[in-house]
Amino acid sequence: MSMNNRIVLEVRDIVKTFPGVRALDGVQLQLRAGEVHAVVGENGAGKSTLMHVLGGIYKPDSGTIMVEGKRVQFDSAYDAARHGIAVVFQELSLAPNLSVAENIFANRQPVRILGMIDYNKLYEDTREILKLFDLDVDPKTLVKNLPVGQQQVVEILKAMSTKPKVLILDEPTSSLTSVEAELLFKNIRRLKQEGISFIYISHHLQEIFEIADRVTVFRDGRYVGTRDVKDVTEEQLVQMMVGRELVDMYGHRDYSIGEVYFSVKGARRGKAFADVSLSLRRGEILGLAGLVGSGRTELGRAIFGAEPLEQGEIILEGKTLAVASPKDAIEAGIGYLTEDRKAQGLFLDMAMRDNCIAPHLETFANQLRMMDESAINDFAMKCRRDFNIVTPSIKQQVRNLSGGNQQKVLLSMWMGIKPKVLIVDEPTRGVDVGAKSEIYRLLRQLASTGVGIIMISSDLPEVLGLSDRILVMREGRIVGEFSGEEATEEKVIACATGVAMAC
Ligand SMILES: Nc1ncnc2c1ncn2[C@@H]1O[C@H](COP(=O)(O)OP(=O)(O)OP(=O)(O)O)[C@@H](O)[C@H]1O
Ligand SMILES: [Mg+2]
Repeated sequence: MSMNNRIVLEVRDIVKTFPGVRALDGVQLQLRAGEVHAVVGENGAGKSTLMHVLGGIYKPDSGTIMVEGKRVQFDSAYDAARHGIAVVFQELSLAPNLSVAENIFANRQPVRILGMIDYNKLYEDTREILKLFDLDVDPKTLVKNLPVGQQQVVEILKAMSTKPKVLILDEPTSSLTSVEAELLFKNIRRLKQEGISFIYISHHLQEIFEIADRVTVFRDGRYVGTRDVKDVTEEQLVQMMVGRELVDMYGHRDYSIGEVYFSVKGARRGKAFADVSLSLRRGEILGLAGLVGSGRTELGRAIFGAEPLEQGEIILEGKTLAVASPKDAIEAGIGYLTEDRKAQGLFLDMAMRDNCIAPHLETFANQLRMMDESAINDFAMKCRRDFNIVTPSIKQQVRNLSGGNQQKVLLSMWMGIKPKVLIVDEPTRGVDVGAKSEIYRLLRQLASTGVGIIMISSDLPEVLGLSDRILVMREGRIVGEFSGEEATEEKVIACATGVAMAC
């Protein structure tokens, strides 16, 4: 193994404040040559802030950064790159209107004499790099035309191609399929052998145990501790992260499920899905499992009117709905919490307050059709309290909230419309363990009021832990159904991948 104890990067006593927030309060981290060092902590713990400091994006208020034992100061992303540090940020930062090749080699395109870009070589080099992820994509494809997962891969390849000494990955797998994630791990293991060091941030603790050598925990901007991964259990790690033991993550249903009141019959949309029929009972949590690309999101979006059905019926409380747009769906009482909170869910430049009320603005207009500011503020304060959204002010731009807190804002938006049916798509993506268990409690609470919830999720423990019933989709069709009690991870996977013929 190429790991040794030489320290390539060290941070000491870093402090970084934003108005009203002490994001980093004297943290430390030591990165050894050739190690994968995980950084974990709850949403808002300061992980991404530190990576912005290490990437030269934010200047710390105080503290020291050392590279190979020498004190450095980063005034720009260029400075960090010059010292061999590359960062794949949590938010994708590619140029959507440029090609894959131009993004990967931004500012480093091969040139011919006279300084002209050598496009042949650019495309050839790009094809070579894409092979690292078995990615069969034309280098000329515009990044905006790639699915989010592949954009994330391009971002990772871009960072790798700069041949850094230290590669920082901030939640790299959040939109990757399991196959892409495996390829990422394979690449990490290979690069480790070459002595490259990694800082790896993830809320998926299984990944930490799979790929990391050591793990450092932050809580509320403070350093909690560093452990060898082989000497620590998942429970101990969670305890370090949240400062208490988490028991009964998924909770239990303590109310009974009512009658069928919502159904979809014979739904079809292009190549996305066909022959889909399902029913939902009052208060039921119906899990929708399947591989990424199996048609679950398309089905959810179609029920919500975002992409109309070509065939089929949606029936709520005995009435066939004519849902041609999300507006129709919301009016009928259907909410949909998107998996892509950045691009489709939230208004990032607007205040948390204004996001909370977005799906039902008209509720806050008075007789004169003026917005009732104090009612809005009261509602937003209630959302912040009920959903435990960590923000210095309800006027804070959503862009500045941590990922998990953004997810809670999204949930508060959709619960605020008092839906009859709520579809949630990857409801806890990027959310820490503590906030996850809160979100599960909120979903159960909503269900206990008689709302049926359709939960699309790739997080199997979550599907199994929360669902009263589970449908499995494969290639656009529903191929299996399990009761919450009989379902196991093995059975659901076998069904989702088609290993089990009948399930
Ligand atoms: N640009 C900013 N302006 C104001 N506050 C900020 C800004 N960036 C981060 N914060 C705040 O700093 C704190 C730390 O946020 P950070 O994004 O580092 O958390 P994180 O550990 O990466 O969380 P997550 O797991 O949700 O990604 C949070 O309270 C966040 O709201
Ligand atoms: Mg973060």
